Amino acid sequence: MPDTLTITDNRTGKTYELAVTDGTIRAAELRQMKTSPDDFGLLSYDPALVNTAACRSRITFIDGDNGVLRYRGYPIEQLAEQSSFLETAALLLDGELPDRAALDAFRAAIEAHREPPARIQALFAGLAEDPHPMGALIAAFGALGTYYPEARNIQDAEVRRRQIHRIIAQAPALAAYAARSRRGEPIVPPAAGLSYAGGFLYMLHAAPGKPYTPHPVLERALDVLFILHADHEQNCSTFAMRSVGSSHADPYSAVAAAAAALYGPLHGGANEAVLRMLRAIGTRDRVPAFIESVKKGEGRLMGFGHRVYKSYDPRARMIKQVADEVFEVTGRNPLLEVAQELERIALQDEYFVSRRLYPNVDFYSGLIYEAMGFPADMFTVLFAIPRTAGWLAQWEEMLRDPDTRIVRPRQIYAGAPRRDYVPIEQR
Ligand code: CMC
Repeated sequence: MPDTLTITDNRTGKTYELAVTDGTIRAAELRQMKTSPDDFGLLSYDPALVNTAACRSRITFIDGDNGVLRYRGYPIEQLAEQSSFLETAALLLDGELPDRAALDAFRAAIEAHREPPARIQALFAGLAEDPHPMGALIAAFGALGTYYPEARNIQDAEVRRRQIHRIIAQAPALAAYAARSRRGEPIVPPAAGLSYAGGFLYMLHAAPGKPYTPHPVLERALDVLFILHADHEQNCSTFAMRSVGSSHADPYSAVAAAAAALYGPLHGGANEAVLRMLRAIGTRDRVPAFIESVKKGEGRLMGFGHRVYKSYDPRARMIKQVADEVFEVTGRNPLLEVAQELERIALQDEYFVSRRLYPNVDFYSGLIYEAMGFPADMFTVLFAIPRTAGWLAQWEEMLRDPDTRIVRPRQIYAGAPRRDYVPIEQR
């Protein structure tokens, strides 16, 4: 059987044969289907891009029906158990697991670029009195680009690689600066010789000039959470990264846009929303009433549901394991039993079962972050830091792809027809 699709346009009686490649047709081929020579041609209508492959990617694979997630072919479970965040970032960026020399070189590059320009510290003082740290981080990513004008030269692979190193290296410092300046505490710049997650914990918690050693279990748990959040193929923030990047904006601006997309409660902001929801429910006995209110459409069960996963999110499964390890050190988060009861009831309830709504990555992560002492509004920041690796891997891939052109969708115009301007006194 040839890999083609035959379409008969019943408006004209004409038949067209379209090539099917990788399970897709080229949407632009629909344009040849016209009812008259001056007809623009057929468009596909796909708000939210639910059935549109917007790129060809070799980075992350998701099988949403079977709960499978792989980076560059490697199962997420194996990476979470055996890899480190920086090794996983190198894998995402280069396509292969680095050998010892390549990993050492990548670590050295990240370490060399870890300290943001000193003047950027003043940015945080210029924000509102108690800024949401995601707002601060978005501003900081945009501001960072002003220090590196070479970043606009996006055609130069070496320049691109340098910015990639800078953004991944400095994201933890910018996040920690945002948190500390908001607490009214002096900034602690990054120190040498720490792991990626350990360095972040140091900048958050160390007293200036004093030694600080992160708890090894918590440091490793954070590193695993960073691995689990490092990429997730074409989600809202990655699409923002690619979309802004397709205009050839510098990567700092594109990362700021991606972080802004992540901020929303339907995306990376869900982890914060979950914790607020769990606090509002408060106790286990109030869970059934809350589930009923969700079913009546009075709100969503945050941390549940996913556009792609129609089974248990494999990241949520891994996060539950990490939670056990963290709670051994920090003590159990009392909201865990509320979350477990929500999950238990939802997974048996016809409303959630029929819509195939399962816990996603954000359902349990906030409980761990809270147990580790992070305030709720830092949770999305903790998602954004490692996601810089995924965004930048996707950006690099997009720029190298000969199919890339500036993102520019079409619309169905549903507004007023042509009409004449009416002077204000006649309206
Ligand atoms: N609680 C209650 N009902 C839900 C939920 C939920 N969390 N999610 C989806 N539904 C219902 C929705 O009302 C709709 O029902 P109906 O067919 O009767 O109208 C049906 O399920 C399909 O939902 P949808 O909104 O069309 O699905 P979507 O693919 O557009 O949205 C989603 C995906 C993740 C935005 C959505 O499931 C949601 O809002 N979840 C809560 C927020 C959340 O946890 N977001 C984090 C996503 S994972 C982290 C990340 O990568 O961003």
